[in-house]
Amino acid sequence: MEDVIKVCLVNRKDRESYERIEDINLENLVRNGGTLRFEGILYHDYAVVAKIKDRIVGYTLLAKNFFLDDDIYVMQIAVDNKFKGVGVGSAMYDYVEKHSKGFKHFTANVNKNNIASKCFHEKFGFSPFGEEGNTQYSYSKKVNAKKDFSDKEVYFYPIKKKEHESELSK
Ligand SMILES: CC(C)(COP(=O)(O)OP(=O)(O)OC[C@H]1O[C@@H](n2cnc3c(N)ncnc32)[C@H](O)[C@@H]1OP(=O)(O)O)[C@@H](O)C(=O)NCCC(=O)NCCS
Repeated sequence: MEDVIKVCLVNRKDRESYERIEDINLENLVRNGGTLRFEGILYHDYAVVAKIKDRIVGYTLLAKNFFLDDDIYVMQIAVDNKFKGVGVGSAMYDYVEKHSKGFKHFTANVNKNNIASKCFHEKFGFSPFGEEGNTQYSYSKKVNAKKDFSDKEVYFYPIKKKEHESELSK
């Protein structure tokens, strides 16, 4: 069977998955020079992961927004460097969009010098809102999901073709 991206929720007690999430988080922070290693990991409400060949290749941590009603907020999203650009981030956001029943908005803050993330959020239909912060853009899109996060189904997405060689060809 052809490889696919599988997206599902992670159980809070699934230590192995959280260790892999931390690895991807750390790999991305080293590359981007970030400092918020534990923020999302400690406080999120939902963790969504994407797997290829049963290995976690991306994650997003989400929280019910404390400041805005009816809002599901992205605390972190990151994709394994070797699997960027093949649709992993989009697959996870599509999953969130389909499972955010009860929420009206899906929001994220994006660092101003993070061009990949800015393009990614714009491509996914997020628009800027509110006042621009000093270092970040706030992005939001409307959602109207039929399912909530208690849905335990695994969702499947195709892997987009990427020009250069990746782990997928090994
Ligand atoms: C941002 C990020 C999550 C995107 O995930 P991804 O799986 O690589 O993205 P996808 O393959 O689903 O790409 C979807 C669209 O996003 C945009 N995009 C993704 N990476 C991009 C890049 N490096 N430059 C410009 N646009 C990019 C493109 O429009 C792309 O559509 P296309 O392939 O049809 O051109 C990923 O680059 C990442 O992990 N970055 C480091 C961590 C981070 O910055 N997180 C965001 C914090 S707010």
